[in-house]
Amino acid sequence: MVISDLLIIGSGIAGLSLALKAAKHCQVVIVTKKEQADSNTNYAQGGIAAVFHPEDSFESHIEDTLKAGAGLCHREAVELIVREGPARIMELIDWGVNFCRQKSPDQDRFDLGREGGHSRPRVVHAKDLTGKIVEQSLLKAIQAHPNIKIFEQHFAIDLITEHHLAPHTRVKNRPLHCWGAYVFDRHTKQIKQFISRATVLATGGCGKIYRHTTNPDIATGDGVAMAYRAGAKIANLEFLQFHPTTLYHPDANSFLISEAVRGFGAKLKTCDDVEFMKKYHPRAELAPRDVVARAIDAELKKSGDKFVYLDVTHKNAAETRERFPNIYQSCLKFGIDITRDPIPVVPAAHYMCGGVVTDLHGRTNILNLYASGEVACTGVHGANRLASNSLLEAHVFSHQVYQDIVSRYDFQSPPNMPIFPAWNDEGTLNHEEWVLISHDEQEVQTLMWDYVGIVRSDLRLQRARRRINLIAEEIENFYKKTSVNDGILELRNLTTVAKLIINCALHRKESRGLHFTTDFPEPDDRNWLKDTVIIQKDGSITFTDW
Ligand code: FAD
Ligand code: SIN
Repeated sequence: MVISDLLIIGSGIAGLSLALKAAKHCQVVIVTKKEQADSNTNYAQGGIAAVFHPEDSFESHIEDTLKAGAGLCHREAVELIVREGPARIMELIDWGVNFCRQKSPDQDRFDLGREGGHSRPRVVHAKDLTGKIVEQSLLKAIQAHPNIKIFEQHFAIDLITEHHLAPHTRVKNRPLHCWGAYVFDRHTKQIKQFISRATVLATGGCGKIYRHTTNPDIATGDGVAMAYRAGAKIANLEFLQFHPTTLYHPDANSFLISEAVRGFGAKLKTCDDVEFMKKYHPRAELAPRDVVARAIDAELKKSGDKFVYLDVTHKNAAETRERFPNIYQSCLKFGIDITRDPIPVVPAAHYMCGGVVTDLHGRTNILNLYASGEVACTGVHGANRLASNSLLEAHVFSHQVYQDIVSRYDFQSPPNMPIFPAWNDEGTLNHEEWVLISHDEQEVQTLMWDYVGIVRSDLRLQRARRRINLIAEEIENFYKKTSVNDGILELRNLTTVAKLIINCALHRKESRGLHFTTDFPEPDDRNWLKDTVIIQKDGSITFTDW
């Protein structure tokens, strides 16, 4: 058993930035399921949106965010991240992050990128490697901290709540509390209890639910699945963002071509060299992401082609190489010199706008359980996230969690926690069956891609629901009679989240933001200007209020 004041699950920007601050007041433990840098954060390219341009304003950033969110953003959450933005960026600089500055004579000003949906240059960046620089700087600061212990290769299986107590030891009518998590040590294969006064889900997104995604392998929706099983509210899962431009190449693993490339002047063209974005939106290439992804999807369906081109060849080659060294080198490996060749691109699953419902302090409806970063639904993104608002949201909300934790807990007094039973792992692993079940992952990814993608319909969603229910049942049966391994844990979580997404998508009978269905192609403000909130009741998905 490992006991701490604060248990953080996940080592991306949300988890690490919180740990660094909280460790000034208490003992912090971070568990992370693979290596410490394995996170979506590490892959972020474009940067972090914040108001620094002399002609920019908080009001403008707020308005752009609200507009992208298509009526579902919670204004107070948006105002919070926007107004806090500049201070949090300066904090990252204090932790060693080196953001790009303008060339002389304006070296004291940030070089601000432009991205879709932003009406001003607003994106602070470290060339096209922002996430990697942030992740490395935070990990370096963590390493030096005596109050932070990081457990790599430790996979959180489930949150520990009253449900895990023997019935006779439960206090009747007491609100649900979280006391930590059961965690699988991938090296020793042991399942340990990590007990804590407060627990923070910072587990990131769920892109791996789809066949094509910009996300790394860790993004299997574990946090949402754990929170749902524990009784937390989950919201807006139908709003899954597809990034319009990922490299089309069989070996490229949906490598992202940053929106900043369009901000730099790149044009989208069909395979016969025709620009098409002006037909779809007055801001053309810099329209909000949902519009660009749907436009590409429509062009591909019309032409029957497998990709469109993103063309930056008209820009100065040296400047392109200087601004996008990572994209330039990565494309070169696949034989594409982006200064001479147009880049074949297709959309891919990218970001989960919904997640575990929190208030403005990052608290969930379960006491002592917080969520921050991509796993959370704070109300910031509504029906569609504005580009480069997610690193910002994660960092600002982790600051909120930090402030709440230090004001709520008395870290000097001894903790008063119930005794929980050890993990009951009596089953035996049936290898033969695992071989069959392990194929379910691809089946889920394919069905999500084919039936729950950029354009949906009731028919497709219903078909997806029938199939996912079958797969989920098979997996649950297998899980119950098996010793734990990380394959089955991820598969179970991925399937749970896929099931929740499908149910949320079927529930919303309109098109809004990222959720587009041919059966209800228009938004319906009268009936649907509201979040989709679910909770588990008696084992079933139940719709509820925020
Ligand atoms: P993550 O950084 O994903 O970290 C999650 C952590 O939780 C990981 O360490 C993971 O291993 C761990 N974890 C997960 N499940 C478990 C478990 N069961 N047990 C233990 N540990 C677990 N956003 C922007 O704002 N600007 C950008 O330019 C940008 N570019 C992007 C480019 C790409 C290619 C991608 C994929 C995303 C991009 N995003 C961008 C989105 C942004 O990177 C993420 O939303 C953000 O980094 C999420 O941070 P996080 O800390 O919430 O989660
Ligand atoms: C990108 O660089 O295009 C990704 C930005 C984001 O997801 O916010």
